[in-house]
Amino acid sequence: MPNLSVDLLSGDTTQQHGWQMLTQIVDSDPVPTLVLNVRHEVTHWNRAMERVFGVPASEVLGTRGQWRAFYESERPILADIMLDGADEAMLLQWYQGRIKRSDLIPDAWEVEGYFPQLDKWFVFTANLLRDVHGAVIGAIETLVDITERKRVQEQLTEAQQQLVLAEKLASIGQLAAGVAHEINNPIGYVHSNLNALGRYIADLFEALERYEGMVRQAESLADVHTALEGVRKDLDLDFLKEDVPTLVRECQEGTGRVKKIVQDLKDFSRVDTHEEWQMADLHQGLDSTLNIAANELKYQVDVVKEYGEIPLLPCLPSQLNQVFLNLLVNAAHAMGEQRGRITIRTGRKGDRVWVEIEDNGCGISREQQQKIFDPFFTTKPVGKGTGLGLSLSYGIIQKHRGQILVTSEVGRGTIFSISLPTTQPIARPQTESVEELFHV
Ligand SMILES: Nc1ncnc2c1ncn2[C@@H]1O[C@H](COP(=O)(O)OP(=O)(O)OP(=O)(O)O)[C@@H](O)[C@H]1O
Ligand SMILES: [Mg+2]
Repeated sequence: MPNLSVDLLSGDTTQQHGWQMLTQIVDSDPVPTLVLNVRHEVTHWNRAMERVFGVPASEVLGTRGQWRAFYESERPILADIMLDGADEAMLLQWYQGRIKRSDLIPDAWEVEGYFPQLDKWFVFTANLLRDVHGAVIGAIETLVDITERKRVQEQLTEAQQQLVLAEKLASIGQLAAGVAHEINNPIGYVHSNLNALGRYIADLFEALERYEGMVRQAESLADVHTALEGVRKDLDLDFLKEDVPTLVRECQEGTGRVKKIVQDLKDFSRVDTHEEWQMADLHQGLDSTLNIAANELKYQVDVVKEYGEIPLLPCLPSQLNQVFLNLLVNAAHAMGEQRGRITIRTGRKGDRVWVEIEDNGCGISREQQQKIFDPFFTTKPVGKGTGLGLSLSYGIIQKHRGQILVTSEVGRGTIFSISLPTTQPIARPQTESVEELFHV
């Protein structure tokens, strides 16, 4: 067996014996593994390490060249950073939040990383090695190839993202008729006001022309005065004076509404799933979502807003809007013949902000409450619901490290409560798993 270890520690024989054992264990392990001593020198570099990374043990043993297997230029690897006594905050900062404690051994840390030169993904796990007295004598690092899992995950994530998009487009599709109606209404009166204004302007020009004629022909000031009165009555200039500002104001209001709806729709339909985290006002999000859903809601429910004082939140605003939209539309769908009521409450409790959407609709049985967050669970006819709304909402709230809960009573109504933290870790993971995206 080739000697793949160089014992750089003390000459203590029991220690040497232990080290020898370690050499054998490490070397026969099919998982790429390396060991460093406290001086950051490589003491073990097993055969799997040589095979996978193509760097022979003879090149690195006894040196501080461990980086050669992974990087183009010198930089510390996880084992080096741990040897230097990095604490949790430093590790999180160094790996931009991507590092986590090993699920099995809490004092070991693990990170996933992509190595372009090999076109492979590895999860690397490192832990400190200690002597019997607990003093650090080195660090061990193992690298497990997770490329296959990553590829499958990427494919799945892509498929899921397509699904998210499809769901979003479907909900916009469902709302499109309503939105068209919302826009049509103000456009209708702006159009008729403009017709009236056109007639008024023609009248004004006529008045001007007649005034000019009079001034040219009049013999006395009294004549002018009488003629002016005549024109004023003929053309009903008093009414015109009153009506013009009203018509203009209505036009401004109408175009303002259309502009707002179009803006909300644009915000809402943002299709990039890689939206940036930003500080946003949840009330603004709720209001623009209400605006989008107005047509779906206004014939069936009254909406009561009981907004409290809440700070701006770090979030993915268009995704939260999607959650709100689904909860509002679900609430409207839960109404029977009678006009219903939706109450939206918000508030802050410590370092969390909460949003409650309550309806007095049909309610959800205890049995169904267990299933409503499952993908594709729906009680609605084909075309009205795909059953993805709540499952997606759950995923979005989880991604925000928040919570979504339901309380409901059949025949009385339902409350969905969301709570969200007011702060988020500095860096977010770049990829998201299927579990994160959906509630599965
Ligand atoms: N407020 C509510 N009142 C009564 N039942 C509800 C309420 N919200 C959700 N549900 C029930 O939960 C089911 C799942 O809701 P979810 O939003 O996930 O899907 P969906 O509304 O059926 O379809 P989609 O949202 O994909 O269009 C609904 O079909 C309905 O039975
Ligand atoms: Mg729904």
